[in-house]
Amino acid sequence: MPPIEILKDIHWVGAIDWNIRDFHGYSIYRGTTYNAFLILDEKITLFDTVKKGFKSELLHHIRRIIDPTKIDYLVVNHVEMDHSGLVPEVVELVKPEKIFCSERGRKALLAHFRREDWPYEVVGTGDTISLGKKTVEFIETRMLHWPDSMFSYISEDHLLISSDAFGQHVATAERFDDEVDLSMLLGHAAKYYANIILPYSNLVQKLLSTVKEMDLKVDMIAPDHGLIWRRNPGKILERYDEWSQQRSKVKALVIYDTMWHSTEMMAKAIADGLAQEGVSVQLFDLSTNHRSDIITEVLDAGALVIGSPTLNNGMLPRMADFLHYMKGLRPANKIGAAFGSYGWSGEAVKLINAIMEEMKFTVIDPGIKAQYVPAHDDLQKCVELGRKAAKALKKGA
Ligand code: FEO
Repeated sequence: MPPIEILKDIHWVGAIDWNIRDFHGYSIYRGTTYNAFLILDEKITLFDTVKKGFKSELLHHIRRIIDPTKIDYLVVNHVEMDHSGLVPEVVELVKPEKIFCSERGRKALLAHFRREDWPYEVVGTGDTISLGKKTVEFIETRMLHWPDSMFSYISEDHLLISSDAFGQHVATAERFDDEVDLSMLLGHAAKYYANIILPYSNLVQKLLSTVKEMDLKVDMIAPDHGLIWRRNPGKILERYDEWSQQRSKVKALVIYDTMWHSTEMMAKAIADGLAQEGVSVQLFDLSTNHRSDIITEVLDAGALVIGSPTLNNGMLPRMADFLHYMKGLRPANKIGAAFGSYGWSGEAVKLINAIMEEMKFTVIDPGIKAQYVPAHDDLQKCVELGRKAAKALKKGA
């Protein structure tokens, strides 16, 4: 893909990773991009680099615009390797006069690359630098999603270069939100939020307040992954406001793994109970659904009913994986309940309940266990559990 001028004298020069499918446990079946931006001004400035392995794409894009050795400044908005992996090679080639980063960014760059001799210039929220005609204002966004993360705001263009925030893992030949289907894009933005940003939702709320207090006019948001928000920057800001409030809908998920279909029978009976009460319900079998797709639905679900049979005094491994992953992402304001079949010991339900309690879910029932194969009575209890969860969900809504 060629580089593209996104605004006058501001160019996208990143790389497209069409075939990546896993992003540390998050399934990215549409690939991703590593966005980098080049501003041509009296001080020619590169914002971020790309993942190691994409050197030729980055340099080829830059070379189509200028000789890379003419770059004066490098801004490192974020030190995670998908953006900084190429920093050593870029610094070696470009020999920038200054490398702008946050204080924590400087420490992280040192810890990654051990280069005390680089020309670091530490900046913080409210600091500005002039590139000539254009001004860059920095906004630190600590823990969104790393301690070093920051945004760069180009005042004259009302452009927010937003690092990982507002991104989506989508590889496309198009570069702007208005060139693709908006509902597809917002779906990927939701998945990205749920799998990466969710644990820091309180900080998103603070950041949105800061942006309001600073009275920043934002006409374009250029994240480090996926499409640039040119037509709909307001829409993604609204969605971040909504997602970070973690308000749940009257929506329930029944998430389960099953050994010989007994827990699956229970899951379907619970879903029946939820549906009987008019609640929107989705079933997820962990053997056919990726954890990161389920988490996308967890984002706005009010109730999670979770089931596993007992195996070796514990739960099935895929359920342990899912609960571990979900716990790290800290979804809030959920109603929970557990269920599962067993042969002789039956610890899985108790273990699932304990994890939901640790996550501060409102556990509405001790849970349902059925020995070997659920009998009619067991399934009736499951239907009742579904109805109980539905009523609790509607009461809380
Ligand atoms: Fe896209 Fe936190 O790196």
